[in-house]
Amino acid sequence: MSRWWTCLAELAESKVAEPGDDLTSLLVEHRTNGTITLDELVDTLILVLAAGHQTTINFFTNSLLALLTHPDQLELVRAGEVSWEAVTESVLAWDSPVGQSPFRYPTQDIEIGGALIRAGEPVMMSYAALGRDPAHHGPLAASFVAARDTRHLSFGHGPHFCVGAPLARLEAHIALPAFFNRFDTELAVPAKEVEPFPSLALNGIRALPAVIRPRAGAAAGV
Ligand code: HEM
Repeated sequence: MSRWWTCLAELAESKVAEPGDDLTSLLVEHRTNGTITLDELVDTLILVLAAGHQTTINFFTNSLLALLTHPDQLELVRAGEVSWEAVTESVLAWDSPVGQSPFRYPTQDIEIGGALIRAGEPVMMSYAALGRDPAHHGPLAASFVAARDTRHLSFGHGPHFCVGAPLARLEAHIALPAFFNRFDTELAVPAKEVEPFPSLALNGIRALPAVIRPRAGAAAGV
């Protein structure tokens, strides 16, 4: 049994004694009614934590990298000509925090774009591809523009569409302006030396070496 599992089972236990207005308490209610088992309860908490963690980290580091390497676009946002909401969607489209899906297995033979996929064959879909597809975004598909056409699949599609998307967007709309209004930041290494995070599914970077200084006139609190 993993430490995560044990910690989250303890959290669930504490919510039996003291329920609150939160997801764990809601799941505990379903466990008490017998709708879900303890394993399902804890695994759901693990899913939410895992799915909401590295994805959000990647979103922020990809956003910082996009804006620091395109200072003209950052200036447009700081000047109020482009909203942080638009920047959020542009980064999601241009540099999707999740690159590929986990394997999916069709239950029957299907043909997509002239390719036959047999039932049971593994399929890996790219969430990142649409945002850079010139057929959808034209010749600027591969360029970062803060207010670009923002059709993307970065939160997935269909029944498994990211349940945390509204939270991720809310975090982005708060954290990006808070950071950029408070700090002046520049990369400490050439952009091409920023190393990708080694992962087939996730699309982020290993580290973002940067020099961060307080912005003249910025309030100390965020
Ligand atoms: C920018 C940040 C995020 C990105 C890019 C993202 C992306 C995705 C994607 C692509 C999927 C679909 C996976 C699939 O097709 O199987 C997904 C599912 C999911 N996400 Fe997110 N996510 C983000 C933030 C979050 C947050 C903050 C939470 C929760 C706190 C979260 C919780 C989940 C869960 C629970 C699922 C599974 C939904 C299901 O299978 O029904 N995500 N996410």
